[in-house]
Amino acid sequence: MRKKIIAGNWKMNMTSDVARDLVDGIKAKLPNPLNADVVVCPPFTVLKSVADRIAGSAVDLGAQNMHWEKSGAYTGEVSPEMLRDVMCNYVILGHSERRAYFGETDEMVNRKAKAALAMNLKPIICVGETLEEREADKTKQVVETQVRGSLAELGAKGWADAIIAYEPVWAIGTGRTATPEQAQEVHAFIRSIVRDMAGAALADAMRIQYGGSMKPDNAKELLSQPDIDGGLIGGAALKADSFLAIVQAAC
Ligand code: PGA
Repeated sequence: MRKKIIAGNWKMNMTSDVARDLVDGIKAKLPNPLNADVVVCPPFTVLKSVADRIAGSAVDLGAQNMHWEKSGAYTGEVSPEMLRDVMCNYVILGHSERRAYFGETDEMVNRKAKAALAMNLKPIICVGETLEEREADKTKQVVETQVRGSLAELGAKGWADAIIAYEPVWAIGTGRTATPEQAQEVHAFIRSIVRDMAGAALADAMRIQYGGSMKPDNAKELLSQPDIDGGLIGGAALKADSFLAIVQAAC
C-alpha cells in the first residue's frame, strides 16, 4: 500500500514569527496514529527557523524550488546542497506558477529533478493542464508531455523517490476543485504513463498527489480515490486547523 503524503505549499507567504506559530499549531495536534507523511514547504527565508521548530517531530520539511547547479555564479538561486543544509528532505519542482511566471520548461524541471535526487531530496514534480487545454480536450496530451519530459531518465532509485503532483491549473487557488472522478481519471492515466516509462512495480509504488483547492470538506472524497495518494495544499495549508483536517482525512 502507498503511504499517503500531505504537503503544505506555503508559496510566498509567512515571515518567521507567523511560520513558527503555524508549525507549532500543526505539531501540537497531529493525528495519532499518524498514517501519512506530513510535509511543510515554506519559503526559503524561513526554512531554517521552521527546521529548528519541527526537529524531532513527525513533520518533514520541503522547499518550493531550487536550481540544478551545485554552486556558482547564479545570483538569486539556491542549490540542492543548500536545501540539505537546512534539513530539507523534499522539494517542489515545476509548480504551474513557476512554469507560467518564471518560464520553467519540462527540460528545466527534469534537470532539477535529477539534481535533487542526486542530493537525496525527494522531488514533488508538478504537472497539470490549464482551463483552455481542458476545454480543448487536451488534458491527457498535456499531462503526458509534462510527465515524460519532467521525469525522463530518473533511474530506478529516482523513480522510487520521486512524487508526482497532479494540479489542474484551473483548480489552483480558485476554489474550483476537480471532482474526485475527474482527478481519479487523470491520476490513473499518469500511473499508466509511469508504468510505460518505469515498469509496473515502480508505477504501483509511485505516489501521486492531487493539488488544487483541496480543503477539509473535499479532502476525504478525493483521498479515497484509488490512484490519489495525497495532497499538495496551498491556501488551506496556511492555517493549522484546515491543514490538520486534511492530514486527518488521509489517516
Ligand atoms: P491551492 O494551491 O490549494 O491554494 O489551490 C495548491 C497549489 O498550488 O499547490
